[in-house]
Amino acid sequence: MQPLWYRNAVIYAVDPAMFHDSNADGWGDLRGVTQRLDHLRGLGVTCLWLLPFYHSPFRDGGYDVTDHLGVDPRLGTLPDAVELLEAAEAYGIRVVLDLVVQHTSDQHRWFQEARADRDSPYRDYYIWSDEPRDDGLEPIFPTVEDGIWTWDETAGQYYRHVFYAHEPDLNFANPAVREEIRDIMRFWLRLGVSGFRTDAIPYMVHGAEAAEPGGGADLLREMREFVMLRQPEAVLLGEVDVPLDEYDDYFLDGDGLTMLLNFWMNNQVFLSLATGEAEPIHKALRDMPQPPRLGQYANWLRNHDELDLERLGEADRETVMDTFAPDETMRAYGRGIRRRLAPMLGGDERRIAAAHALLLSLPGAPVLQYGDEIGMGDDLSRNERLSVRVPMQWSSDENAGFSSAPPDRLVAGVVKDGPFAYDRVNVYDQQRRSGSLLARIGDMVRSRHGLTAIGFGRHSVIDTGRPSVVALRHEDDRDGIAVTLVNLGGEEVEVAIPDEDLHDLVDVLADAEYPPEEDDRPSLRLNGHGYRWLRPRNHIFK
Ligand code: GLC
Repeated sequence: MQPLWYRNAVIYAVDPAMFHDSNADGWGDLRGVTQRLDHLRGLGVTCLWLLPFYHSPFRDGGYDVTDHLGVDPRLGTLPDAVELLEAAEAYGIRVVLDLVVQHTSDQHRWFQEARADRDSPYRDYYIWSDEPRDDGLEPIFPTVEDGIWTWDETAGQYYRHVFYAHEPDLNFANPAVREEIRDIMRFWLRLGVSGFRTDAIPYMVHGAEAAEPGGGADLLREMREFVMLRQPEAVLLGEVDVPLDEYDDYFLDGDGLTMLLNFWMNNQVFLSLATGEAEPIHKALRDMPQPPRLGQYANWLRNHDELDLERLGEADRETVMDTFAPDETMRAYGRGIRRRLAPMLGGDERRIAAAHALLLSLPGAPVLQYGDEIGMGDDLSRNERLSVRVPMQWSSDENAGFSSAPPDRLVAGVVKDGPFAYDRVNVYDQQRRSGSLLARIGDMVRSRHGLTAIGFGRHSVIDTGRPSVVALRHEDDRDGIAVTLVNLGGEEVEVAIPDEDLHDLVDVLADAEYPPEEDDRPSLRLNGHGYRWLRPRNHIFK
């Protein structure tokens, strides 16, 4: 079977408003991303996930779209989008866009027409009711919205919104809405994107299912087929935060989503990071269904949203909350943490590096959050999830090298105080310092490209007898065997590898130089928060 690009992709998520401002208006923009593609290339990233840049009032970071086929003027123009796609292609970097079609902004023309006229063809694009009714859904942002129905005076009816009140839900029972979604996908696929990060998929499925039993699966099949027929290599990377036993309802044996963002694993990773125990991750790996033959998981540490801990039991959730968000201001929606990775790990580069070594050794495609490769901090004075969406810190220049606009015109203030201030944490400094977090994560990414068994192969947990060590064996018919070890604890440990065929391993990547093992002691040493990726000696020295 041909290696599928996404099975081993290293994905890098960029919020274009926050990355780099090319025209000094204070907003990051698409040209800014194009200008900074060298950073992605240097890091070894193979796929850029571009967060929404469409026309939007930006009341939900651009997820409140008013026109899916255009670029918001603050972020550039359509030709800028084409230029970015072309430049990325020249660097060998694929681009995946956010497809946000669970809802629109209430400022979208469809909604404006729908509310103004009961007979408008757009009325049925949305979900209306004379009375709030129980659709079996709860508000996603419970501390902000106390219901999913809002009265609209102009329409003379309630409309449904599982997200914010300014984001009315689209109606998937309406074939015209599904046609619009196809139009949007067609448009961007023609321009050369390699797929979509499909937003809020379970709610779309819920809507289609409510209209007709089996309709949810039909919707996914329809979308996948549409994409595959136009661009066989394009993926649907679904935002699917559901229990493990529902994963197959989204993969649909290979006919549904190509990739699932693995929220389950994400929660277990944070439980493991909080407790220093590998077991939650090991258990998740044992319990997770194998993706279909052409499917894959995507894993990440932090993203642009809060760290939603809903997949953990109450006691475990409390543990993670108490460890990583001791202060109420660090929490959101009564369920999650609105901090970036580096502050959660106390700014300790060893721990941040180990967390990335763990991410990159999990079966699936890793997704890096812009700025986490240098250990950027957050800004808790910003509302809700905006705390983690801060301008990229390029250098110690004014405005962190993000923009040359006057500081009071920036889309968001740069982090300028404390241990994560831009004069202490920035790309320029770390680029020149060997052993910097940026250098270490870059080394990991590049090593990962050589270890295709991680994304492609079969994996199993190695029983090392050390509770703090995540120890995995990855095996693929073509790539052979790789072993990945990550010590979540701060103490040095000796790790025994019982597998008989793994007695002669050599390092491919490690947090430090480890002396060769002595023959009579078939064990491996690991520093506190150390990591080692290894191969059988005969794979390297033939
Ligand atoms: C997704 C996005 C989030 C957004 C929401 C509504 O969960 O990740 O940022 O607010 O969808 O579109």
